[in-house]
Amino acid sequence: MAGTGRQFMKNFSIGVFDSGFGGLNIMKEIVLKLPKYNYIYLADTARAPYGSRSKETVYSFTKQAVEFLFKQDCQLIILACNTASALALRKIQKEYLPRYYPGRRVLGVIIPVAEEATGDIFNNRIGVMATEATVRSESFVKELKKINPKAKVFQKACPLLVPIVEAGEDKDEILKIALKNYLFYLTKKDINALILGCTHYGLLEKNIKNFLTKDIKIFNEGKIVADKLEKYLLNHPEIEKNLKKNSKIKFFTTDLTDKFEKLGSGFFGKKITPKKVILD
Ligand code: DGL
Repeated sequence: MAGTGRQFMKNFSIGVFDSGFGGLNIMKEIVLKLPKYNYIYLADTARAPYGSRSKETVYSFTKQAVEFLFKQDCQLIILACNTASALALRKIQKEYLPRYYPGRRVLGVIIPVAEEATGDIFNNRIGVMATEATVRSESFVKELKKINPKAKVFQKACPLLVPIVEAGEDKDEILKIALKNYLFYLTKKDINALILGCTHYGLLEKNIKNFLTKDIKIFNEGKIVADKLEKYLLNHPEIEKNLKKNSKIKFFTTDLTDKFEKLGSGFFGKKITPKKVILD
């Protein structure tokens, strides 16, 4: 009987949720850093983008995603989506988890990146590129100032970048024009740190660098989130001990298209074969 109990305890995966493809870029770094665990990735592509939606809608969609991943036996879920982390995470942690899944955990991407970006005392002028909804929520501003009250935070909503990244090929000229405009605003503020506060922007790091002087440090989420997750698991053996460790990864999406497989495999760096799921 004791053996059965132990087996049950080790039955859980790590869930990674994003509104769409971009989170695969973060998941890639997590899997590279922590390959032994089992993962389940969920993309709500049927209802993406989240970045122009209201707080209520983002909360309701994110709650459904979290519920799905818990039913797939995830012990811990990372909201790789900045918009979901900004608009829904707090309510999920404060209200939903204690009531329905007190033993499980949901973590976001904003606090890990804010902690990194304020780590250097010279980085007092911090630029944030994010979706419209993330900017409106002021989540980055609040978290950065909580850690470093002296921080001056300048946000820029960059609504054109997600569709440009997802357009795939032949995007160079349009991308240059969009980045020039968005980064002109931030560089004029004399920033010395720049947070790429959206899943897709990490893929544009090289393009973004071309518009910045060398003294501006870029904070790209993938590696930061992977490092913080490793630390979290070390500090929470009660969660870690429940995780399955046979390196299996499953992918789910709410809209199965050729584009998802093609773009998604590019973002993840390996071929993925997602299954379709309906969230409600
Ligand atoms: N995943 C979203 C984020 O990181 C970007 C895409 C969207 O707007 O849904 O904010």
